[in-house]
Amino acid sequence: MSSIKILAIETSCDETSIAIVENGTNVLALTTNTQISTHAKYGGVVPEVASRMHAENITIVLNETLEKADLKIEDMDAIAVTYGPGLLGSLLVGVNFAKTLAYIYKKPLLAVNHLIGHIYANNIENKLEFPLLTLIVSGGHTELLYMSEDYNFKLLGETLDDAIGESYDKVAKVLGVPYPGGPIIEKLAKQGIDSYKLPLPVNDGTYNFSYSGLKSSVLNLVNKEKMHGREIRKEDLACSFQKVAISEICLKVNQALQEYNVKQLVVAGGVSANQYLKEELVKVCQQYNTEVTIPSLIYCTDNAAMIGAAAYYLYQNKIYANLDIDACSYLNICE
Ligand code: KG4
Ligand code: ZN
Repeated sequence: MSSIKILAIETSCDETSIAIVENGTNVLALTTNTQISTHAKYGGVVPEVASRMHAENITIVLNETLEKADLKIEDMDAIAVTYGPGLLGSLLVGVNFAKTLAYIYKKPLLAVNHLIGHIYANNIENKLEFPLLTLIVSGGHTELLYMSEDYNFKLLGETLDDAIGESYDKVAKVLGVPYPGGPIIEKLAKQGIDSYKLPLPVNDGTYNFSYSGLKSSVLNLVNKEKMHGREIRKEDLACSFQKVAISEICLKVNQALQEYNVKQLVVAGGVSANQYLKEELVKVCQQYNTEVTIPSLIYCTDNAAMIGAAAYYLYQNKIYANLDIDACSYLNICE
């Protein structure tokens, strides 16, 4: 079998990440430099700070990755980069860096959609089996899609307002938990009991999601408790919130499994790191004999290995990007 090595670059948000991925599945090296501790001071990602830090770190991350794999840029078959969606300034650092490398070293450039990257993160450890349903749950997206084959996406539904990760982060803020709130809310929820009453998701028959109502209910509840001078039991509220947030996901997945006969449910995006989500999805999928695949933690959140995994299809099909390609902050998965 031939060895195709792709150098992949991911800078769409607050992680500067570079990987070398062989044949789309074998991660030869991965370096992810996270800016979380810097942004945590401001309670969220500051775009200007993020792009500046990417610019400062990207060559360091590249050199570290090449060293780990004991390879040179000359050994690469292509350069892949996330070109959207994400923060424009952050994306531009990665895109311009990738273009420069592709131009100087005369390598094909592969432009990867960040969301497709999250889906293909699952191909690194567990081969994608079609047809499948894929659930993208991140800080910016909540989408349910059907895939009949590689790179063939049919959008079934998406969030009409906030993304699920965003709702975790906003509830965290209300509870005074530092950014990014998702993992901490999950930890608190484990120690709590579901004792606060929050409105359950409505079964509207579509595959769309909505999280702003749940977020407002949490906010109203906290304000009301404060007004009455009652202390909020953070663990319990985290538990009640998480239960409702994830029951909405399970409701829609269950509905989709009734309509589509699929081999796998492929979960993607930062929220797929959530253990409770995994347990609940497994329960739903067991009824339909459908396998649930979720990447390991390092491939769940933003990383360049997933970009290398998604780029392999583009390389095989010679879907090369021009050197004048632009970064796109808004980008649909079906484009
Ligand atoms: O995919 P990702 O790393 O970045 C985006 O492309 O958005 O996802 C980040 C999101 C954040 O909202 C974060 O709070 C959430 O994923 N997240 C979690 C967990 N780990 C990360 N949410 C719930 N439970 C977790 N364990
Ligand atoms: Zn992401």
